[in-house]
This record gives sequence, C-alpha cells and structure tokens, in this order.
Amino acid sequence: MTSSDEARKNTGSKLYVVLISMVAAFGGLLFGFDTAVISGVIPYIEKYFVLSGTQTGWIVSSLLFGCIIGVLFTGAPSDRFGRKVVLSSAALLFFISAIGAALAQSTLILILFRLIGGVAVGSASVISPMYIAEISPAKKRGRLVALNQLTIVIGILLAFISNSLIAGHGENSWRWMLCVMALPAILLFIALYFIPESPRWLMQKSNSKEAFRVLQIINGTDIAKMEIAAMEQPLNADLSTTFKDVFSPKHRKVIFIGIGLCVFQQFTGINIIMYYAPLIFEKAGLSINAAIFQTVSIGLINLIFTIIAMRLIDRIGRKPLLLIGSFVMAIALFMLSWTFFNTAVSSFLRIVFILVFIGAFALTWGPVMWVLVSEIFPNRVRGKAMSVAVVFLWASNFLITLLFPIFLEKIGGGNTFVFYGIIVALSFIFTLKYVPETKGKELEEIRI
Ligand code: BGC
Repeated sequence: MTSSDEARKNTGSKLYVVLISMVAAFGGLLFGFDTAVISGVIPYIEKYFVLSGTQTGWIVSSLLFGCIIGVLFTGAPSDRFGRKVVLSSAALLFFISAIGAALAQSTLILILFRLIGGVAVGSASVISPMYIAEISPAKKRGRLVALNQLTIVIGILLAFISNSLIAGHGENSWRWMLCVMALPAILLFIALYFIPESPRWLMQKSNSKEAFRVLQIINGTDIAKMEIAAMEQPLNADLSTTFKDVFSPKHRKVIFIGIGLCVFQQFTGINIIMYYAPLIFEKAGLSINAAIFQTVSIGLINLIFTIIAMRLIDRIGRKPLLLIGSFVMAIALFMLSWTFFNTAVSSFLRIVFILVFIGAFALTWGPVMWVLVSEIFPNRVRGKAMSVAVVFLWASNFLITLLFPIFLEKIGGGNTFVFYGIIVALSFIFTLKYVPETKGKELEEIRI
C-alpha cells in the first residue's frame, strides 16, 4: 500500500462522495426532465389528438398519478433489495416510458406510458435524496440534499432547452421531445453499476464488512469506525418502525407540518407554470415556437435562483426564506391574474410576473421545503414519515395539474391565478404559525 492510499484511508475521499452523490442525483435530473418535458409536448398533442381541457389535464397528470404509486411502492423493495436495485429499476422504467410515449398512437397509450414514467419519477424522488443522505458525511448532508433540488432544476431546464431545439420540426416534434429522455435513462442505468450500495442498507442486511469499506473510502477509517458503532445502536435502526408509529400522537404535529409543507409547496401553483408555460404564453398571443423558447428563460431563472438559495439557506435560515417567498409569490400571482383580466396588458408583462414568481419560488419554497422535510422528522421514523409527506406532495401536484386546464377553460386565467394567490397567502400564515427554524441545529436537537 502506498503512503497516499494510507492517507486516503484516514481522511476519506471528498471527490468520491461527490461523484456518487452526483450519480444518485441523476435520478433528480430525470425527475425534473420527465415532469417538465410535457410542457413542450402539450401544444402539439392538443392539435394532434384534438384534445379537450379534461383530456389535456389527464395526459399531464397521469405521470403524477404514477408518482404516487412509485412513492408508495418504493420503501419496501428498497429495504429488501437495496437502494441501487430500485434506482436501476426506475432507470429502466424511465427508458420504457420514453420510448413507449414517443411511439403512442392514441391518448390512452400515451397516458399509460406517462404513468409508467411517473412510477419511475416517484421512486427516484424518494430514493435519490435518501441514498445521498445515507452515504454523505453528517456535516455536508444539508448541502448535498439541496444538490438533489439542483439536479431537478437542471433536468427541468434541459427539458425546456431540448423542447425548444426540437420544436418546429413538424407535427411529430412532440414524439422526439419525449424520446430524448431515453438517453439519460440509459446513462443512469450504466452509472449505477459503478456506485456502491448504501452503507446504511448494508448494515441493515448485516453486511458490516462492506458497509465499513464504503464508509472508509468516504470518511476515512476513524470516522467510519464511529459511524458503524452508531449504526449498531438499536435506537438508530428505523427498520423496526411501522406506519402506525409514524401516525402516533407524539408525531402528529411534525407530520402535520411535513405534509403542510409539501402540500403548500405544490399549491403555490409552481408546476402549472412548469408544465403549462407554453400554453399560457400561447394564450397570451405568442407562437408555439416563441412560447416554448420563453420556457427556457423560466428554466434559467429557476436554476440561477436555486444556486443563490443554496448559499442563503444556512445563513438567512429556512423560515424567513419561506415567508419572503410566500409574500413575493402571492403578489406575483395576483399581478399575473390582473394581466388576464386586463386584455390591453402586453404579453411581456405577463412573462415578467411569471419570472418573478419562478425566481421567488426557486429562492425559497423550492429547495427549503425539501431541506426541511428531510430535517424535521425524528431519526427513527424519518424514512417512512418522509414518504408519507412526499405522497401528499405528488397527490397535490396531481390535483393541481389535472385541474388547471379545466379551470382555465371554465373560470378563465384571471380567476385561476387569484385562487393560487390566495393559497400562497395562506402558506405565509402556515409558515408563521407552525414552521420551526432548523438553521444551525443538529438533527437531534430539532424537537417538534
Ligand atoms: C418541486 C417540484 C417542482 C420543482 C421546480 C421542486 O422543489 O418539488 O414539484 O417542479 O421544484 O423547480
């Protein structure tokens, strides 16, 4: 053994943990890509299949329905077969969904394959952050969880860019938009082969030798020894907890806050902009190509403000960021609503309000919600409690996305955005009253 090997054993490899986190966060990238790609597809398929508002709603939200199934059926197999196996299966499902949806000859087949993609997204939305949390050193866990939000946002931006490059190539452009995802899906599948299993899962399978080996590469020998000892403490084995424990009276308040955070994040209406932006712009008078191109600016603003948020989250704190976000987003939504009531307003102004809304979301509720939800639950129930909250996230996303085109058709854009503005105003009150500040605290110090 060389002296540098020896040194690495003592300090661990930062590069290694970043690389394997990046592979896992690739799941977030597919999550972002697959959820947002539909935005460029809608204007095409609305014409191709001559869709009603209700049908459009079903096509967009079928993926989200699949997400709920994916989250519900991820916990047990990931405990039984490991995190890697489940994430690899998700990568395969991403691939099948991309090809199947691209070849769809009817709305029903399209819905079916989007649903399969949804199972993959739901699964990745739990496994990727969980795997990162399980392999990362405690001190860096917060930032690394936020890395997953960053990859979601990058995935969204890539979908917008890819849509914008493909748009305008005939009535079948939407097929290519959907097909693109097959490539990152294969890449994820291959990359997963090269990363180790989660040491925490290995410990649960009584493979402490391999768990130690992985931790030693990441953190060095001394810390690895301490971590193995801590994992051996019966208190930290959360496998024995049941969903009944999650809903026991002592966890009621924290579960309420977790679910509230997830539901309010979705009820900001963020994803109606993410998934329907070209449709909103088209209704504001832009051509399909220009509308799809505008979504790239949305993706960019989303990315820039997420990066800024990652710097602020540990300085300003979670709660003030959420409050600022609710305030600015509510105003932007009311102004957006005004642009629908006042037809003389230029489409440029509508784009400005949309961008203000996106920037405020990306700086606040986007990453902060995920960080808080991974922090507030006690160690013992964290995994299961988090999946309960995330099911509510996808269910809310499903509902909002399904209802949006119907709302647009029945009550118009103006009333629709007033509705979301009011909910965002309520999220301000919820945050003020219930959300704890977790900045700078050890996870064990957070008691709700
Ligand atoms: C949300 C997603 C959303 C994304 C937008 C995430 O935090 O959970 O629903 O599409 O942010 O950037």
